[in-house]
Amino acid sequence: MKGLYESVQDAAGFLRSSSALVPRVGIILGTGLGGVSARIQINEQIPYNRIPHFPESTVEGHKGNLLFGTVSGCNVVAMQGRFHYYEGYSLQQVTFPVRIMKALGAELLFINSAAGGLNPLFRTGDIMIVTDHINLQVDNPLRGITDERLGPRFPDMSQPYDCELIEFAGKVALDLKIPVRYGVYAAVDGPSLETPSETRMLRMLGADAVGMSTVPEVIVARQVGFRTLVLAAVTNVNLPDAMEPISMEKVITNAGLAEPDISDVLEEMLRRTMKNGPI
Ligand code: HPA
Repeated sequence: MKGLYESVQDAAGFLRSSSALVPRVGIILGTGLGGVSARIQINEQIPYNRIPHFPESTVEGHKGNLLFGTVSGCNVVAMQGRFHYYEGYSLQQVTFPVRIMKALGAELLFINSAAGGLNPLFRTGDIMIVTDHINLQVDNPLRGITDERLGPRFPDMSQPYDCELIEFAGKVALDLKIPVRYGVYAAVDGPSLETPSETRMLRMLGADAVGMSTVPEVIVARQVGFRTLVLAAVTNVNLPDAMEPISMEKVITNAGLAEPDISDVLEEMLRRTMKNGPI
């Protein structure tokens, strides 16, 4: 069996031969947020099942394509559909595309995710700029990885979400008159949703939102040296004393409420990056 480093090289080599575009920004589109890809002028659309060693997407609301193209003139590679631990993949599989995006040359990673709001001030359809996270998943994507060619074995996590990108996203949102929240994202395994007591616990721990993704990708992004920005779409608000039932259908529909704003912020950030040089 090939090692992870060799598998990443294989996949990146295949993709280099499939698209001449060298991406500057990697984009991961979360549940119900695949529509953000409408803002990409697509050069190549590569189904996941053609990419060596790539897992295949199974979850509703996700398409399985890697897109090479431009947004406001900026070269991007975007995952239309991501992998989740709850689908049965290992966290190494879940985060494999992050390593590939880096190997292809991307320096910035923009992640969009659906999340349940825990902060009582949040509303469905809000955007939360993630400032930090609490990892409550049982596994870690770096467990067992000793190959230093993949990055440091013990990546620093004192600033996992890039301060300058957070400030930049906030400024762009303000200029576009799009209200944003800031907060801490707690990652759980899923796929079952939270009980009222779990919801209370997450809030007491200091989380503003909860989701089943993002954190494994951010950990690997740190290991490989990405500067990362995460915009979470608040698809439901969970209040421990007034819990409402949540369905995946609702999550997908409500992610659609935040999708245009997330797309606008992303597009404008990339437009200004192209105009004013590197952030
Ligand atoms: N909990 C966990 N993950 C989620 C939620 C939630 O309430 N909403 C969207 N993803």
